[in-house]
Amino acid sequence: MTASHESVSAPTRRTVVAAVGAAGIAAALTACGSSDDSSSSEPAGNGAKAGAAKDGAGKELAKTADIPVGGGKIFGDAGVVVTQPKKGEFKAFTNICTHKQCPVTAIEGGTINCPCHGSKFSIEDGSVKHPPAAQPLAAKEITVSGDSITLA
Ligand code: FES
Repeated sequence: MTASHESVSAPTRRTVVAAVGAAGIAAALTACGSSDDSSSSEPAGNGAKAGAAKDGAGKELAKTADIPVGGGKIFGDAGVVVTQPKKGEFKAFTNICTHKQCPVTAIEGGTINCPCHGSKFSIEDGSVKHPPAAQPLAAKEITVSGDSITLA
């Protein structure tokens, strides 16, 4: 019980790094079911991106039955939109509009819609269907396993 109370004064950075490291190791251990080790050579300089990607990794976002065919569902907390353009075909995109970074709020009429200035994006590939946005919504990786959808 006396081991670590001297270093309490500046815990933020160290604590965060340690936590991310532990999560990364846990994720690596869980994901290590196959002998294909091709993903282990990532450069270490990309911390922000890797950390963000790992945040929601492995958490179930939804059941496949929650995602309407020809539509989709927005998961604001996870920062992701999951769509099902055709039965059994699931796609995922960031929920942040590429125009001025408003979160999108609706999926209607085959498009993912931003309330701020009216941009619309395809549920199939995130491409712009209605300006002012000029860039597509970036795709996100999901895993569909049985009836469960998780962030990859
Ligand atoms: S921020 Fe989405 S349309 Fe402008």
